[in-house]
Amino acid sequence: MAALRGVYFQCPKFVHHVLIWTILFTSGCRAFTVRQTSDGVDVLLGGTLLLRHERANPAISVGTGTTVFRELHGNFNISDTVDSRVALPDVAVTQPSPSEYRLVFSSGGNYQTEMRLMTGNKGYDHVMNISIPGNLDRTWLRLYADDGEHVYGGGEQFTYFDLRGRSFPIWTREQGVGRQPGTFVTDEANRRDGGGGDYHTTYWPQPTFVSSRRYFCHFTTTDYMIMDFSDTNAHVIQMWGSPGVIHFGSAANFREISEQIGELLGRQPELPDWVHDGAILGVQGGTSEVLRYLEQAEAQGVKVNALWIQDWAGRITTSFGRRLFWNWAWDENQYPGLRQEIVRQKERGVRFLGYINPHLNKLGDLYTIADSRGYFVKNSTGQTYIQDFGEFFCGTIDLTNPAAFQWYKNEVIVKNMIELGLAGWMADFGEYLPPDMVFHNGVPGREMHNLYPALWAKANREAVEESGKLGEIVFWMRAGFSGSQNYSVMSWAGDQFVDYSLGDGLASVIPAALSLGVSGYGLSHFDIGGFTSLFGITRTEELLLRYTEMAVFTPMIRTHEGNRPADNWQVYSSDSTLQHFARLVDVHVSLKDYIRELVQNNSRYNLPVQRPLFFHYQEDPAVYSIKYQYLFGPDVLVAPVYMEGVDSWQVYLPEGDTWVHLWSDRSYDGGQLVTVDAPLGQTPFFFRAASRWASLFRTVARDNPLPVNGTSFHRIILPYVTAIIAIFVFFWFRNQ
Ligand SMILES: *[C@@H]1O[C@H](CO)[C@@H](O)[C@H](O)[C@H]1NC(C)=O
Ligand SMILES: *[C@@H]1O[C@H](CO)[C@@H](O)[C@H](O)[C@H]1NC(C)=O
Ligand SMILES: *[C@@H]1O[C@H](CO)[C@@H](O)[C@H](O)[C@H]1NC(C)=O
Ligand SMILES: *[C@@H]1O[C@H](CO)[C@@H](O)[C@H](O)[C@H]1NC(C)=O
Ligand SMILES: *[C@@H]1O[C@H](CO)[C@@H](O)[C@H](O)[C@H]1NC(C)=O
Repeated sequence: MAALRGVYFQCPKFVHHVLIWTILFTSGCRAFTVRQTSDGVDVLLGGTLLLRHERANPAISVGTGTTVFRELHGNFNISDTVDSRVALPDVAVTQPSPSEYRLVFSSGGNYQTEMRLMTGNKGYDHVMNISIPGNLDRTWLRLYADDGEHVYGGGEQFTYFDLRGRSFPIWTREQGVGRQPGTFVTDEANRRDGGGGDYHTTYWPQPTFVSSRRYFCHFTTTDYMIMDFSDTNAHVIQMWGSPGVIHFGSAANFREISEQIGELLGRQPELPDWVHDGAILGVQGGTSEVLRYLEQAEAQGVKVNALWIQDWAGRITTSFGRRLFWNWAWDENQYPGLRQEIVRQKERGVRFLGYINPHLNKLGDLYTIADSRGYFVKNSTGQTYIQDFGEFFCGTIDLTNPAAFQWYKNEVIVKNMIELGLAGWMADFGEYLPPDMVFHNGVPGREMHNLYPALWAKANREAVEESGKLGEIVFWMRAGFSGSQNYSVMSWAGDQFVDYSLGDGLASVIPAALSLGVSGYGLSHFDIGGFTSLFGITRTEELLLRYTEMAVFTPMIRTHEGNRPADNWQVYSSDSTLQHFARLVDVHVSLKDYIRELVQNNSRYNLPVQRPLFFHYQEDPAVYSIKYQYLFGPDVLVAPVYMEGVDSWQVYLPEGDTWVHLWSDRSYDGGQLVTVDAPLGQTPFFFRAASRWASLFRTVARDNPLPVNGTSFHRIILPYVTAIIAIFVFFWFRNQ
């Protein structure tokens, strides 16, 4: 019994029982309970074991450490030394009120660390609040894990969807080029500027996870932290600074868990209706150039809903390729007559979209204004913090300074963009802020770093909302963090490499969308064709089209010319590419009613548009390890082709439904792997036979057959036709 020294329970009085039952009832019978065990305590939420404290495996350790961050071009090299670490084996439990437990962990009375557990009454507001002694700055929290458990979320994760088995630092940054050390692209990028990245590097990390044991956990700290899921019987969460409040929620199914996360973090509004009417073409070069691209695309039958002209503010040239002039105002030399053209094109259903980020180039006049008013983030000597963004130098708007926030929102976004008539923009960046930056609100740079993207989203959202344009304007962001759920209106997967690599190529955007969806952000899309072309590797037509056919089954289609437009295959590179593209856009547009309802349901219930299979098939154990297939709403299963040179594809169909392969109209029972034809243009798409949308899906297939394949016509049919004609001609002449 020595092990139980210090463990003591105070039973609630009778009146408290009534209260407990009221709380249990209103919280769906899920409340925190603390249970005495032979060697410590268990903490449960409803019937779910969250934490198992044993003297040999204490739930909490505390300590101190030193972390050094080195930043270059948004890539962070983080090295950490743990200076002290003390495990806290003793625990004393009290229950000051029926809905609250207080656990004090210590080591022989030293390092007293308090954990308060408060059962909420809304289902998503059960909190654990940990406070550590003031002279410490590290906490290791061991949450219970079981053998077969899977863990998802962590924000936008490109390499692993199931996070189990690995460790995930939470620090927003460039996702990296290649993201797979030991491969050519990653190693070259590391040699260049340490920008190769790794499996966990992401623009949108988030300390939120969902367990296959059907509970979620969300940490409210914004400081650097590491979620380590590599231990077989514990999830070890290492927090820097004060650990603070942690939210838990559990439910019978993943749909309810997702709804709870939406209640906690906020949800996204619906997309403007015009977004569902076609494709956004990413083009640039000036007014007449972009109109020529529009005419060319429309001549091949492409439904274009917007032209995205990222160079609306002008351009500069660097060794990475052409870059934009970061001074967010209409460049009238580059885009003469733009204001009138915006009005003219809108009448025919084509919008204009622009580009912005929270940095200003030293050479621009907006920089001069912001600098003179002290609107930039400062360095340790109180001067504007200047960063090299790749051969040009910028300041960063201090969004914690209310005057700077208002100025950027009203004088830059509203006046220069919304009043010009732009119907949306890419709201880029937000990850490059080094921890030694000094902010107006006095919060240390390390704690502001992850939070900044959410503030950046808020500035964009308020500009749109206060102009009365929510539902008409769409902006899309890559950087994010907890809080972005409530402000950003669309996300995109950032800068994929123009190849098929799993780490950074086409495939990587699938786990990215799924993990972001699990983390509470249900709208995402990507650059069609990928973005980064370096070291002589360029985008092929096949890659561009494989990207396009996957984009059909996302909420928004948008092309990007990439960082080196002239070297890479573009949607406008040939008429046949445009025709192929036009057909895929038609497929997307004909699904409009279904897609709009998915977007609505994301907005109402926080049900991500692209969902993991376990959201609807939680009883099928096979679906928990699938990361390159997804459900596009409840009725459609998509298994994008992410390899080069293949024309068939293997798909797992979840158990419990009959599935119809769209392109062949063949039915299959769920619970098996099937192989289907998957030529270019027919990405494996299945719908539930029982779907109320089945007749729409069948119409889509009927109305959009594959075009006569130009390649096979030339290569196969044409030689035969020529040979037959030649034989006829030969005999005709011989018979003369
Ligand atoms: C968490 O604990 C800290 C320190 O005791 C306290 O300041 C804070 O108000 C608590 N938060 C909640 C939500 O209980
Ligand atoms: C990060 O820093 C360490 C220590 O200085 C160095 O060995 C390593 O190469 C760096 N990594 C990258 C990707 O630059
Ligand atoms: C979402 O943003 C609005 C407006 O800023 C705010 O009032 C609300 O509390 C936020 N909700 C959440 C869940 O953060
Ligand atoms: C702070 O920034 C200014 C430029 O704005 C620079 O001259 C100065 O060296 C910087 N100070 C430090 C400590 O980096
Ligand atoms: C949207 O949600 C409603 C209510 O749960 C459901 O009936 C409907 O089928 C959903 N629509 C789609 C397309 O998933």
